[in-house]
Amino acid sequence: MRVLVVGGAGYIGSHTVYELIKDGQEVIILDNLSSGYMELVHPKAKFYQGDIRVKSDVEAVFKQEKIDVVMHFAAKIVVPESVKEPLEYYYNNVEGVRVLLETMKDFNVKKLVFSSTAAVYGEASGVCQEDMVTKPINPYGETKLACEKMIQWVANAHDFNYVIFRYFNVAGADASLKIGLMKDQLTHLIPVAIQGIIGLRDHLTIYGNDYPTKDGTCIRDYIHVSDLAYAHVLGAHYLKNGGKSETMNLGSNSGYTVLEVAEAVNKIAPLKVVIGGRRDGDPAELIASNDRAKKILKWIPKYNLEDIVRSDYNYRKKIST
Ligand SMILES: NC(=O)c1ccc[n+]([C@@H]2O[C@H](COP(=O)([O-])OP(=O)(O)OC[C@H]3O[C@@H](n4cnc5c(N)ncnc54)[C@H](O)[C@@H]3O)[C@@H](O)[C@H]2O)c1
Repeated sequence: MRVLVVGGAGYIGSHTVYELIKDGQEVIILDNLSSGYMELVHPKAKFYQGDIRVKSDVEAVFKQEKIDVVMHFAAKIVVPESVKEPLEYYYNNVEGVRVLLETMKDFNVKKLVFSSTAAVYGEASGVCQEDMVTKPINPYGETKLACEKMIQWVANAHDFNYVIFRYFNVAGADASLKIGLMKDQLTHLIPVAIQGIIGLRDHLTIYGNDYPTKDGTCIRDYIHVSDLAYAHVLGAHYLKNGGKSETMNLGSNSGYTVLEVAEAVNKIAPLKVVIGGRRDGDPAELIASNDRAKKILKWIPKYNLEDIVRSDYNYRKKIST
């Protein structure tokens, strides 16, 4: 299979490229390196530098390469930034997908695996099922939902098949430690907590310990990036074998409190924790039902919280020395 990975120089895209190559697939990457890194590009992948909003950049790849399946990871993903600069988010995330779909249609490539997010569920609490109401509460989530809908309408009109994956909290690094979440992208709990034990920050702030959960801190669903990446390999095979369009959560079906995550990190080395006030818009509990991905793709996540924390620690130590 020849897979075009758009955004393959980023965190999740690069891990997916590694899994695709392990699986024996040929990979072509298109990335503008706006938040990606050449160091994350697998040496066996063919790399094109270009922007998916620029039709001639996308066409150049489709003219040169015969493509079976496209995977899309090329988005801007920082929620607070999306609130400050919504137009940039609509332009990059939505226009990028529109140009990509148009080019796929022109070149008769009709299989797409798309990265979406739990942010489409908005302030939902508890276990998220794919057919729940979607109600994003920030421009980032709105742009991803707009892309989901655009893909669904295009599939409806042009005999096109897709798998849309909605991710929950992604962390960790590939076992080779050649790739991982790079330094300047850190906003998520696990890498931030790890920074607190390798001397890159003084403490971890926990936002609120008065939620209705077992220890008062928020419950979230954590998934190892390599498990997530492997689901994309299964998604590509599924589409190649004639699978019909589906939207699936990728999470673990269970959750950990923020304090439990801090304790897992503290087992590696002492972590100082400071309790702060609640943040706006943080639901008490957010967990993915992953029954659909398990049933349709036979996807079984392999890694637990300790594995995720340990692999992020190993990677962060490696890049900080
Ligand atoms: N990281 C998470 O926890 C998370 C959670 C939910 C969903 N997602 C989704 O996963 C996808 C990948 O996220 P990530 O964490 O790997 O982000 P990332 O920033 O590491 O990767 C995005 C990649 O896309 C490239 N890119 C962005 N805009 C582009 C454009 N216009 N043209 C060409 N390339 C472009 C960037 O250079 C980068 O290499 C995104 O679509 C995001 O919405 C991520």
